[in-house]
Amino acid sequence: KRRIAVLTSGGDAPGMNGAVRAVVRMAIHSGCESFVVHEGYEGLVAGGDLIKQMHWEDVRGWLSRGGTLIGSARSARFRERDGRLQAAKNMVLKGIDALVVCGGDGSLTGADLFRSEWPSLLQELVKKGQLTEDQVLPYTTLNIVGLVGSIDNDMSGTDATIGCYSSLTRICDAVDDVFDTAASHQRGFVIEVMGRHCGWLALMSAISTGADWLFIPEMPPRDGWEEDMCTVITKNRERGKRRTIVIVAEGAQDRHLNKISSTAVKDLLSTRLGLDTRVTVLGHTQRGGAACAYDRWLSTLQGVEAVKAVLDVKPDSPSPVIVIRENKIERMPLMDAVQQTKDVTARIHAKEFDQAMDMRDSE
Ligand code: F6P
Repeated sequence: KRRIAVLTSGGDAPGMNGAVRAVVRMAIHSGCESFVVHEGYEGLVAGGDLIKQMHWEDVRGWLSRGGTLIGSARSARFRERDGRLQAAKNMVLKGIDALVVCGGDGSLTGADLFRSEWPSLLQELVKKGQLTEDQVLPYTTLNIVGLVGSIDNDMSGTDATIGCYSSLTRICDAVDDVFDTAASHQRGFVIEVMGRHCGWLALMSAISTGADWLFIPEMPPRDGWEEDMCTVITKNRERGKRRTIVIVAEGAQDRHLNKISSTAVKDLLSTRLGLDTRVTVLGHTQRGGAACAYDRWLSTLQGVEAVKAVLDVKPDSPSPVIVIRENKIERMPLMDAVQQTKDVTARIHAKEFDQAMDMRDSE
């Protein structure tokens, strides 16, 4: 019987529990034994009780739960070869030869590296006398499959990451709540949202709530944006709007790579427009909480597909990541998705991008 383990890594995201539940149950359904690794890669390195066999009923009720019930960590030890050596040993001792990793691009890159090193890790363990030839013989290859779990929706190749729609929903609810109090006092609010280097959460929440102005990393505002913003807000006020909402992505920068500070935006609204303005940093309320319906079905369908992919991967084929494109659950080479993501991020800061923006401004 094949033994498939699943772990969650990096920042937690709503829907991760749904993914673990689906992997556990699909593995059992497919005649495999199923394991979870607690505390992300840390658990793989530490081994022991942190790698636990799971049964069908162990994941009952997990679908809607927020966070990750098996824990997550940003493991420094797994980034070192010694840590990965220890992880390989623990997997062989537990008889596990396939791993489903649910996390962001960093976590998935780590998984791919682990797979590529696998034969040499086993050889080293034998050489050091930590495992015998007989022990490693059945584990010549390691199958890895990625699931993208992150609230940021920052992975290329997939339309949505597990967790991003739950987070977006929470942001919209929070902005709606702020609307009520803002309108009561005719105030301005600068709302800072998460997303790391990606502006998806900020952009989508601004569209969904009808915000007055928005800052995202992908589109640094042109010089003189202060004037532009104040003009739009003044116009909106003249039309009778009783509140002003500006959404700032935490990774937003201007064209000179200076961070767009929520406090500076607030000061601007106060001094230039005389608006009584507050800053609200939504913080980790955007990440916790129950998974929305979209993340429940996405994580379930992708978890099922991940197990199918584990059983399909050939030793010489690249590790897949499960994506959703135009509403279809698909597989693509994991490292292609990671590379495309890096390319996009690099482009954001590239000179060509700056020039393109300048041209647009002068049109
Ligand atoms: O990647 C998810 C995320 O919530 C980002 O949006 C944010 O920048 C980061 O993680 C915060 O990380 P931490 O919880 O470690 O402060």
